Amino acid sequence: MNIKRLLTLLTALIMSACTQTPKPQELFVIGHRGAMGYETENTLASVEKAVELGVPMIEIDVFKIASGELVVFHDDLVDKLTDGSGPIEELTLEQVKALTLEGNHQIPTLEEVLDALDKRTALNIELKGANTAGDSVRIVRQYISEKGYTEQDFVFSSFRWPELYRVRELAPDFDIAVLTGEDPLDAIKTAKALKAVAINPWYKRVTAENVAAIHEAGFKVFTYTVNEAEDIALMRSYKVDGIFCNYPDRALAQ
Ligand code: G3P
Ligand code: CA
Repeated sequence: MNIKRLLTLLTALIMSACTQTPKPQELFVIGHRGAMGYETENTLASVEKAVELGVPMIEIDVFKIASGELVVFHDDLVDKLTDGSGPIEELTLEQVKALTLEGNHQIPTLEEVLDALDKRTALNIELKGANTAGDSVRIVRQYISEKGYTEQDFVFSSFRWPELYRVRELAPDFDIAVLTGEDPLDAIKTAKALKAVAINPWYKRVTAENVAAIHEAGFKVFTYTVNEAEDIALMRSYKVDGIFCNYPDRALAQ
């Protein structure tokens, strides 16, 4: 090949590389309360649906109830999601198990979720209720030592930052993510003190600039709850590390 043809070929290759669409930012997709867009939130069915959809991690919420167990439920009150009424924390396990959720599901315990999940995805345990850190760490440790789970299978998160400090006291190596509905930059100090791995902000508070600043400070950003295609694309363009999604297949498909 003569030199002129070689130069033309090289120029064409460089031009084509420059005009190619950039590879979209990889997103870590977390099934929110399982896959609550498809099945009743925080149920075994919702967890199973998220596994089926192929997520690498599922998020659930936990409360400690009056008889001492940790149950997987989002609301303070059972009124909206069940046929009962009153604060979930005031119920015994027998009373919780007597409640029916939409679709004829029951509220599971944390152990029931761990047994059903059986290490098929990682699990983000959101400490939704008070006094949930100690029992969550104890149960997770038990599943690590007896059921083949590893520390890497778990992330603990909470809006109740004192619960996260308790997790860190009890478990120096467990992954912690700091949840916030406020300016995510205000969570950096706490994330540092907790030796957290991530700050998890509300997506309406996320900007390209605060994501860059949080990355610069050494933390990942997983934002909640991002369900619409245009918001998923926007968060991706802001370079968040991952999203919580009620319809995980929408984000996995993008
Ligand atoms: O962990 C992300 C997200 O679940 C936090 O908000 O209210 O859905 O528990 P919420
Ligand atoms: Ca949650």
